[in-house]
Amino acid sequence: MAEISGRLAHFYDKLGSLAYGGDYNPEQWGPDVHQEDAELMEAAGVNLATVGIFSWARSEPTPGAYDFTWLDPHLDRLAEAGVAVCLATMTASPPPWLARLHPETLPVLADGTRLYPGSRQHWCPSSPVFRAYAVRLVEELAKRYADHPALALWHIGNEYGCHVSRHCHCEVSTAAFRDWLRTRYGTLDALNSAWSTDFWSQRYGDWSEIFTPRTAPSFRNPAQQLDYLRFSSDELLACCAAEKEVLNRITPGVPVTTNFVPVAPTLDLFRWARELDVVSYDSYPDPLDPASVHEAAFSYDVMRGLRDGQPWLLMEQAPSAVNWRTRNGRKPPGRMRLDSWQAVAHGADSVLFFQWRQSRGGAEKFHSAMVPHAGPSTRIFREVSELGAELATSPQLLGSIPERADAALLLDWPNWWALEQEAHPSGDVRMLDAALAHHRPLYDASVACDVVGVDGDRDWSAYRLLLVPNLYSLSLRTAERLAAYVRGGGTLVVSYFSGITDEHDRVHLGGHPGPLRSVLGVRVEEFDVAPDGSWREEIHLEGAAEVRSFPGGGPSVTRHAYGAGVAWYLGMRPAPGEMRDLLDRVRAEAGVAPVVAGLPAGVQVRARVAGDGTRWLVRLDHQEGTVRVERGGVSTLPGHD
Ligand code: GLA
Repeated sequence: MAEISGRLAHFYDKLGSLAYGGDYNPEQWGPDVHQEDAELMEAAGVNLATVGIFSWARSEPTPGAYDFTWLDPHLDRLAEAGVAVCLATMTASPPPWLARLHPETLPVLADGTRLYPGSRQHWCPSSPVFRAYAVRLVEELAKRYADHPALALWHIGNEYGCHVSRHCHCEVSTAAFRDWLRTRYGTLDALNSAWSTDFWSQRYGDWSEIFTPRTAPSFRNPAQQLDYLRFSSDELLACCAAEKEVLNRITPGVPVTTNFVPVAPTLDLFRWARELDVVSYDSYPDPLDPASVHEAAFSYDVMRGLRDGQPWLLMEQAPSAVNWRTRNGRKPPGRMRLDSWQAVAHGADSVLFFQWRQSRGGAEKFHSAMVPHAGPSTRIFREVSELGAELATSPQLLGSIPERADAALLLDWPNWWALEQEAHPSGDVRMLDAALAHHRPLYDASVACDVVGVDGDRDWSAYRLLLVPNLYSLSLRTAERLAAYVRGGGTLVVSYFSGITDEHDRVHLGGHPGPLRSVLGVRVEEFDVAPDGSWREEIHLEGAAEVRSFPGGGPSVTRHAYGAGVAWYLGMRPAPGEMRDLLDRVRAEAGVAPVVAGLPAGVQVRARVAGDGTRWLVRLDHQEGTVRVERGGVSTLPGHD
């Protein structure tokens, strides 16, 4: 069960209330601005600053010559002002000299293109040279600031897996991939079998014949691609773990985190989250896209699920516009406040921004910041300050645990990678779309939903309802766990194109959904994709009852009583209205209720429970743009309602 303990308590002890602040890059400014920063941070109620994310070039201007004297006064000033520091390890982007001295550290794309300095994050995750320099820097940094009173939390790297470094195809990465495969398979025979290399004459006779999946004439081997994605996630995790090892050795009492990018098929986040003391997340809902409010809620449920319900940190959000979409709309008045409380409602213990002060130069000068180019006499800074004051005087939500939901949705990154490979029956089957489509009806009804993974032995029996969208890649072990869940009384909903392959992307024979056939009581013989993209399966009932039919006949939705529970199967992709009707029925049968019943459309309520049992309700009205935090029906936010 989620709790705040161990070294994480160090971080919580430094904060009096929910963490508030953002990325602080004082190296971009001079002393007059630093002085103003101190005053404005106080005015804005900042209690946490994330410092040094892109400061490697300043801190190690030439190889091995460390210079943190530029940083000392900033950390001292923050400590004096009572602002805690989330100190970055600075390894996100190496200085240009690394590429000059070691060009082999630059990453290479699948087509052989090498990526050069001049942007950021231009390093190969498998490079021993990069890792050695990174670890040495972290060692120096940790030693220097181990006892600094401002140090509250370590921030390793930045957004691992964002940009290219996840997909390096250089010679070093290729050799590392071969080593990783040798460890995984032991023998070439085992690899040939797992990768189905008798197909298209791909059988390998020597390890040196194996490459990362580089640009090729046609579809590349799916099992090879899957292993490459696993390998890439592992390689980056090894970089992060190497830094963490140094930090834990030198500062054993200081927790570590790294900020995850928006929920995407990049890293296996369940595996990553196990290595951290707390999950952090960068959230950038598009204010021009109404769907982004729900998408943010879903991503927050994912973040909360990564460490089994433990509160997480909103490490970055934009105060207003970003600069990296084609059209970058600003957040209208009140939206930033609502977005912030939405994260807290879903389990965040911080509201942090990218970034404190809007950069004057560089590629992100049009990205909003807490202190805009126009200065503090601005709407943005006023809203930032109002929110800071509100959070500082808010009830003690910090460390309260998001209430455990009765429903959960299963998400598995290797499945996501496998599901979205090329040469499938339909290119329209996307994991995030499917997850959002299943999550949305619960969200609309203000029903809380947790997100669970497949790893480990986590007991799912606490959930009345388990939603399993598109679990294409399914191991026998997970299939047995799902069956046990239903036998024990759970309600399971599995959607189309599930149970198709094993972990090597080899099809489970005998009909779909492979090892789930008996629990679902169906056998799927064929898929059919219509010109409009709709999906239809030819389902044979083998114990299940037909609940809905396709036009022209044949079951499209089935229900199977199995053990003490019920297993539903959706052999189609329902339209949003159909999905809502269906899940309303399933939910009613399973006894899954909203957090608060009878809410008007557009209103969301989530509960957090404090150590003393106090239950806080955070009520977000997305139509009216209002927030209410209640205890026992009484509003507790000062000023606003
Ligand atoms: C990411 C990065 C930040 C910044 C923001 C801009 O989240 O971590 O450094 O580039 O995007 O939105």
